[in-house]
Amino acid sequence: MPSVAIVGATGAVGQAFERVLHQRRFPANEYRLLASERSAGQSVAWCGQDLTVSALTHQSFAGIDIAFFSAGGSISREFAPVAVKAGAVVIDNSSAFRMDADVPLIVPEINPQAVSGHSGIIANPNCSTIIMVLPIWPLHLTNTVRRVNVCTYQAASGAGARALAELESQTRLVLEGGEPQPGVFPVPCAFNVFSHNSALNEDGHNYEESKMVAETRKIFGNGSIGIAATCMRVPVPRAHLEAVSVEFADAIDPAAARETLERAPGVRVIDDRQAGRFPTSRDATGIDEVLVGRIRRDPSIPGDRGLQFICAGDQLLKGAALNAVQIAELLIA
Ligand SMILES: NC(=O)c1ccc[n+]([C@@H]2O[C@H](COP(=O)([O-])OP(=O)(O)OC[C@H]3O[C@@H](n4cnc5c(N)ncnc54)[C@H](OP(=O)(O)O)[C@@H]3O)[C@@H](O)[C@H]2O)c1
Repeated sequence: MPSVAIVGATGAVGQAFERVLHQRRFPANEYRLLASERSAGQSVAWCGQDLTVSALTHQSFAGIDIAFFSAGGSISREFAPVAVKAGAVVIDNSSAFRMDADVPLIVPEINPQAVSGHSGIIANPNCSTIIMVLPIWPLHLTNTVRRVNVCTYQAASGAGARALAELESQTRLVLEGGEPQPGVFPVPCAFNVFSHNSALNEDGHNYEESKMVAETRKIFGNGSIGIAATCMRVPVPRAHLEAVSVEFADAIDPAAARETLERAPGVRVIDDRQAGRFPTSRDATGIDEVLVGRIRRDPSIPGDRGLQFICAGDQLLKGAALNAVQIAELLIA
């Protein structure tokens, strides 16, 4: 059984790791919980035990076989090579290595075969990318995707544990008549919808949007798919919802697409027009599947080649910890 390190164990993704590893009975010999100096010595309930968090150092990885990293890109850039040198395989949740040629970028339902090509580091895709590509992939297998247009409605906890706390405290403040001030986000997040907080590129896209474009092409192994993404934050605690329009090479029948999605691994269709039941971020919170609904023709695409739908997924589970643990399961299979 592997010895496992969790870098960033006290964070939003770190805590989701505990739930996923525990639920899936991941066969670990030892868990080593690592975080910053601030958390060193803290006791954390972990897979049925009380474990003590240690401060991350260059000596943290002796005897570790698998290291899950979720402490931000700069920590991954400094410490992932250290972990690999100590003999571990790193599964990284940051964007530090995702586009490196020798780093597989894996969604296990899509490209599990890529796991054999690693040189010590495997990257977990961006959360919005995973939630979007999971339903698109089975459709792409039957009818080649030419272009995707996506708008995201992303939860506050996508920016970490402090952002979630900020949403809660600002919401209380506003309800009590107060005026919220920007904190983690550049604008108040309570009762507000705003452009994703990642930095803007020179061309006006933010970094989250650029990640969705480049990562989808890498995961699909198809550099010619056109992708237009607009990423937004909404004042919900958890789970991202996305509105997607896909242009295919050939005509697509929405009823047949729905049947394909109903059979797709990791996807659950909620699409009851009569009852008005469609995916919500609340439904998606705390579950493993990506929910899909509002499946319909996109009338703006000629030749009946367009399909619209919405999808919602827990960005801390399938968008981060669950996908990473599924990658680890491929490694030890
Ligand atoms: N949140 C999401 O939905 C999501 C989804 C996919 C990917 N990710 C990625 O996952 C990573 C973590 O995100 P998060 O949302 O979990 O953030 P978070 O809630 O802010 O947690 C950050 C974690 O990193 C640790 N950390 C910070 N500075 C450190 C240092 N100098 N040395 C060692 N550990 C340090 C923190 O430890 P302390 O508690 O001691 O400060 C904490 O455990 C990021 O790269 C993020 O982009 C996040």
